[in-house]
Amino acid sequence: MAILYLTDKRQLTTYEEITRVLGPLGVDLKSWPVPEGEGLRSLLGKARLDPPEQESLLAHFLDRFDYLKTTLGYQTQDLIVLEPDLPGLAALEEKFRACHTHDDDEIRYIVEGEGLFGFVLPNQDQVELKVEAGDYINVPRGAEHWFRLTPPRRIKAIRYFTSREGWVPIYTGRALSSAFA
Ligand SMILES: [Fe+2]
Repeated sequence: MAILYLTDKRQLTTYEEITRVLGPLGVDLKSWPVPEGEGLRSLLGKARLDPPEQESLLAHFLDRFDYLKTTLGYQTQDLIVLEPDLPGLAALEEKFRACHTHDDDEIRYIVEGEGLFGFVLPNQDQVELKVEAGDYINVPRGAEHWFRLTPPRRIKAIRYFTSREGWVPIYTGRALSSAFA
């Protein structure tokens, strides 16, 4: 269940309240519960997955992919797995936490672990949204945002693409609020 953190330390915990703040940016947040099942649970529990295991995991979520193909024209999907022992993780985190935009929507469906998406609101205020397993988020093209891992530094998320080209970060150089630094 997502939580929205505001710079004044308030926390919003319902989709309704969160959508009231993020709606003006065009952010779409949905609850897509992760299915139950022994096979899937064992894949989700592994720190790392080899390519066949990643394919097996994605196969459990084909209905979601079909929905996005039909409704939004998405063409490809992959799985991103971040965990503390991943080589180069610190450098990746450094890139993710720099404010940026994309020319295409950034769609993530969190299937395990958690992370924080930060946003710059139209009034220039900043907020951070904690997303965890079962949260689907669409960060629309042009919305200024960043991403950070929470202390366990562990997340598995399905990424959906219409084209790889559209999903290159365009850095804005904006500093993060001290509340989130
Ligand atoms: Fe991004």
